[in-house]
This record gives sequence, C-alpha cells and structure tokens, in this order.
Amino acid sequence: MKLRNDKPDGTPQPPAEMIFGEWYPALRTNALSKGKTLTALLLGVPLLLGRKNDGSIFAMRDLCPHRGIPLSAGWFDGDTVQCKYHGWKFEPCGGQCVEIPSLTQIDALEPTKIYAGAYPCVERDGHAWVYLPEAGAGRIADRSTLPVVPEVPKFSTKFRTAHLSAELPCNVDHGIIGLMDPAHGPFVHQAWWWRSQASIHEKKKLFVPIEEGFRMASHAPSANSAPYKLLGVYGSEITTTIDFVLPNRRYETIRAGEKWFASLTTVTPVTPATCRIDVVACWNIFYGVPFVPAIAKYFGAKFVRQDQETMIEQAEGLRFRPAMMLIDDADLPAKWYFALKQRRLTGKGEHPLAGPMELHWRS
Ligand code: FES
Ligand SMILES: [Fe+2]
Repeated sequence: MKLRNDKPDGTPQPPAEMIFGEWYPALRTNALSKGKTLTALLLGVPLLLGRKNDGSIFAMRDLCPHRGIPLSAGWFDGDTVQCKYHGWKFEPCGGQCVEIPSLTQIDALEPTKIYAGAYPCVERDGHAWVYLPEAGAGRIADRSTLPVVPEVPKFSTKFRTAHLSAELPCNVDHGIIGLMDPAHGPFVHQAWWWRSQASIHEKKKLFVPIEEGFRMASHAPSANSAPYKLLGVYGSEITTTIDFVLPNRRYETIRAGEKWFASLTTVTPVTPATCRIDVVACWNIFYGVPFVPAIAKYFGAKFVRQDQETMIEQAEGLRFRPAMMLIDDADLPAKWYFALKQRRLTGKGEHPLAGPMELHWRS
C-alpha cells in the first residue's frame, strides 16, 4: 500500500502531554567522541551533548543563558563550551560559567555564580540518558536523589548486545500504545519466521500491577513464534516477563536455565508531536557464534521497521484528529497506560489495576 503523499504537508500532528522528572535516552554514545558535540531534541528541549577530554559526557540546554543563542553555534575545546556571541565559557557537566571575557577589574559580577542549563547525563547500554527535570525545578545540586538510570537487566557477565532505533511521526502516546498492543502482531508483523494471520489463536495472559506500571506475568512464550522455538533447543523451562513502567519503558526478559535474552524498549518524546523508538537487547544465547548478532539485528530491524511504517501510515490519518476507540480486552493495557500517566501527571487517583487480572484476546 502506498501513502497518499510522499512528503508531509506540514499539518501538525496532535501533541501529547510529556512526563518530565525522568531519564530519557537522547542519543547513542558511540557518536560522541572526545572534544566533539552533537545536538538533539528531547521532550522539545534543545540539547547540546558532548564528551569531555576526561571521557565524561554532558548534556547542556542548547541556549546561552546570556542572550539565548544556541551554544552549539560556539566552540568546545574538550573542557569548556564557549558561546559564539560574547565568548562566555561554561563547564559543560554542571553548566557553571567560568569566564566572561568582557569583564574588567572594576566589575563586581562573579561569573561562577551564573549557570547555563545542564542536565544530569549518564552513559548506560550505549545510550546517553538525560534527566529532564520538571519545569521550574531549578538546578539539580544533589544528583544522588534522582531516580535510578534505566538499564537492560543482565544475568551473566558475558553477553552480546544490539541496538535499533526508529523515528516515529506520531506523539509518544501512540508510540507507546503501539508498543503494548497485542492485536496488531499477526497483521503488521506477517513473516514466515514470525507468525501469520493464519496462526491467530486465543491467548490469555495474567497481568499484575507493579509500581507505576504492570507486568505480564511469567509464562511459556507464544508457541507460534519462531524466535522462541530457537530458545527451546536448550530444553529448559522458558519464562518470559514483560513489564511496562512509566514513563515509556518496556522490559522483556526471557530466561531458559543459564540462557537469557533481555531487552529494554523505550518510546521517547522528541517533540510533543513526534517520538523515537529505541530497542536495546542483550543476550547470551548462542554466545560465541559470531554471526548471530547480525541475524538478530536483521530480524529485529525488520520488526521495528514494520511498526515504523505502520505508524507513518497512522500519522497520515491522525492529522485529521479522528476520535479513537480502545476496546476490551486487547486495548486494556493501553487504557492502563493512559490511567497511569494521568495519575502521574495529576498526583491523584488509584493504580488502574487493583490486583492480578487475566486478559483474553486473539492474536
Ligand atoms: S549570548 Fe552567549 S555570551 Fe552572550
Ligand atoms: Fe509491533
């Protein structure tokens, strides 16, 4: 099927509310070499990211506190970021101003009392995770009070890893409910190695509430999907857990004896109306077989591309702001997501899942 337009006509996509006060992946750290900077947009905030000569990475708000020119227009020598307009210099990890070239002996202004916006930034699983505080939260002096940085769970010291990323032209809510939507699988992800429409059958899964999210409890995975059959060659009992946790995280863990596969998928708002999906996977299955990462990446890439293509098509429709439906039981996780998000944003309300609940659908 072809899209009606090759190019977007500029009609804005519907925005979504965004959750601040959380860690989000801004970009891949292998793109950040010492002394280099890159820009990124995260929750509509312009960022200047870079790596200092000592190896540490940083994320500044890409706006000079003096008069607002992007700091990315200036210079970075590996230690300080210098603004192009009047040459103010900043230490980029904390944002402290270290020099104002125009000051003379008789000026009383102390440059080190001035700060550019700088956000906590940590490297984990190859992502530069950036903590974006709530508006008006002020400078974060004590970074030890922040929530823990998300990461892929790992169950052995040796493992392989792969990453995939795709820009989605829809807001973060559509990205996330697409991620947890069980009913699209047989239609969007038709492939001989995955599953087809003909393999649709009734599923029942147990969900339990967890802190700011829900878990699809441990179970033997879909008998009709080939990647799980591959795991089965080890003959151990296979357990799978899928957790969704606010603001945007889906953790999947598959364990079969010593063997394991784990992934963290995030859907991150780039702007209020667009988002990006990132998948980081780690595994020790077939450890030592060199071509497996390449195969895993190929299949994974195809899988993500199918979601991406579908969401590009969906975005065409969303420009007309249609009303939408969420049906039971297949769309219940999406309903829970919206309820959890509302609860987080307003600080009011109960967890939408009062206790364990079995959902039924066909996929
Ligand atoms: S605008 Fe940056 S130093 Fe003046
Ligand atoms: Fe999908």
